[in-house]
Amino acid sequence: MGEPAQRRLIRKLDLERFLSQVQPHPSPRASLEQYTTSESAAATMLYLAAYTYEDIVGKRLLDLGCGTGRLALAAAFLGAESVVGVDIDKTAVKAALSNSVSVGFRDKIEWVAGDIDAVSGKFDTVLQNPPFGVQKRNADRRFIKNALELGDAVYSLHNHPVFDKHLLGKLKANGGQPLRVSASQFMQRFVQKHGGQVEAVYALPLTVPHMFDFHTKTKKEIVVDMYIIKKKG
Ligand SMILES: C[S@@+](CC[C@H](N)C(=O)[O-])C[C@H]1O[C@@H](n2cnc3c(N)ncnc32)[C@H](O)[C@@H]1O
Repeated sequence: MGEPAQRRLIRKLDLERFLSQVQPHPSPRASLEQYTTSESAAATMLYLAAYTYEDIVGKRLLDLGCGTGRLALAAAFLGAESVVGVDIDKTAVKAALSNSVSVGFRDKIEWVAGDIDAVSGKFDTVLQNPPFGVQKRNADRRFIKNALELGDAVYSLHNHPVFDKHLLGKLKANGGQPLRVSASQFMQRFVQKHGGQVEAVYALPLTVPHMFDFHTKTKKEIVVDMYIIKKKG
């Protein structure tokens, strides 16, 4: 697929169609929480970042914990100036590279196999769907800290603090459109401590397919919170 004109508004449906070509991880590991962000959640995240907050088009992007590259590729598709995707898992990075070749964005994205601690440089915007810390407690905190050191704006997905059936129902009734919610007190404090400020939080539905032996259902729907964080000063 060719590269779209940088400042042309792209329809969300076209972004979702583009993302449906991105292949998931061939052998995901539970220990690294290698869930692929669903097409609709990734499209919602990127769409808000691009057209409500103007943090994608013409910007230098970093995707931390890029997996097979869904968020990085979406940013390239929407018109980011340059994109770097980093993941600790070599198989994921290989799949991301192959995805970028098949969708025609190989030249715009640099893929790096390594820990997020090894990343240096300055970026306008960091995108991440970090491990939620289900397997390794607090795994997402290091991602927030590093993202704030590397970027001016951070878009980060986190588990909603409690399973909220009512909110999930509202989101589904709303056709999957995100809803503004409050930041948790912990996140407010943690972000502030690391030099940032929570600008907004949106709840969105996320479907997690059956991927690992300990999953008991064919799929599970959960609510995730997308934090939009800006560096102070
Ligand atoms: C929930 S997955 C998200 C994948 C991808 N960003 C997406 O949205 O589909 C989290 C990713 O973080 C990666 N990861 C976990 N710990 C990491 C670390 N310390 N450094 C770099 N990547 C890491 C995992 O390998 C995994 O691909």
